[in-house]
Amino acid sequence: MNNPFVITGDIPEQYFCDRREESGKVIRTLSHGGNLCLISPRRMGKSKLVRHCYNKPEISSGHYTFYIDILHTSSLREFTYVFGLNVFETLHSQSRKMLMAFAQGLKSISARFGFDPVSGTPTFSLELGDISRPEFTLTEIFGCLEKADKPCVVTFDEFQQITRYPESNIEALLRAHIQHLSNVHFVFAGSERHLVSEMFFSSARPFYNSTSILELRPIATDEYIPFVCHWFQARQRSVSEEDARSIYRLFDGNTYYMQKTFHEAFANTPQGEACTLETLRATINDMLEEASDVYRQLLSRVPERQKELLYAISKDGKAQKIMSADFIRRHALASSSAVQSAARKLLDLDMLAVDDSTYFIPDTLLRMYLNRLRKPDQTFL
Ligand SMILES: Nc1ncnc2c1ncn2[C@@H]1O[C@H](COP(=O)(O)OP(=O)(O)O)[C@@H](O)[C@H]1O
Ligand SMILES: [Mg+2]
Repeated sequence: MNNPFVITGDIPEQYFCDRREESGKVIRTLSHGGNLCLISPRRMGKSKLVRHCYNKPEISSGHYTFYIDILHTSSLREFTYVFGLNVFETLHSQSRKMLMAFAQGLKSISARFGFDPVSGTPTFSLELGDISRPEFTLTEIFGCLEKADKPCVVTFDEFQQITRYPESNIEALLRAHIQHLSNVHFVFAGSERHLVSEMFFSSARPFYNSTSILELRPIATDEYIPFVCHWFQARQRSVSEEDARSIYRLFDGNTYYMQKTFHEAFANTPQGEACTLETLRATINDMLEEASDVYRQLLSRVPERQKELLYAISKDGKAQKIMSADFIRRHALASSSAVQSAARKLLDLDMLAVDDSTYFIPDTLLRMYLNRLRKPDQTFL
């Protein structure tokens, strides 16, 4: 029997929880020719929301849809490379006519196109090194989408990554393209708040005021708790509302960690039985255990001053005035300037986040892991 709490791959419609309003906004914006910036901490559900909207008839029936995750890219050349490959692959499955147009339009890398005489379709073998003039190739890719016989939707996921490219004019370059495209609409999804919000909210930056903004919040408890209880029940199992709520609170509504918890807990609850607090505790211990290799690696590269600050903030949960004498004394930290520079580094690494001058560790499981390092007998539920 399949597990209703899906944590990998596409989420079938019935197992996709809520996001009705958000989907509505995404679909409305795109189908009226606008662009959208989608922003939230990691694992709140941005990528799945985009996929979900792509599958809705309003989008799927009248658009070509492209989805490109650029987290692993580190230059404009690599950006162009993954974008080009993705457009080819997507068109390969969506439109033969467009595929031919694409093969003819990309003059700067025309040598990489071939023709498979058996299937009668173009082939494409592109290496990163083939792209010698990325700005050129990029113009050609956009040009091809602009001329498509249906409007195109392009999602660049983890878009904040472009701020790390060595080239200095990337934002202006992309913005200039986007401004001139009327047949291509964009979703820019980003996880690192300090980078994304500067890019889109600061009037000095090219992307300022160029998109609608959707900040993805946790799924509301009123939606999520009944969703959990419903699926346990539908599969002849049960979980109490109160316990489901404790999990929600524990992870601050982080979609992935809640889904992961219930996925495992569901798997460990035999048919006809109840998922108890004990089951949930054991599940969380397993999750901490499973993550510990990655977290230990991560922490092994964090210098001591930064780690002290991480411990301090994980202890407080939400920390205010971290440069104040009181905070420094309470947590035995070195000095306010040391805290300031440690905080800056941790923010850059995305291990720390700040919202309305309240600091917190955005990865809720890491927060718990740190708390357990400080106090090994700590229980969480
Ligand atoms: N609406 C939803 N219903 C059920 N599970 C969801 C939903 N949105 C996200 N998830 C779960 O959360 C995980 C993280 O979502 P994802 O879209 O990858 O987050 P992000 O892109 O913001 O980092 C998914 O793997 C899935 O398990
Ligand atoms: Mg994502």
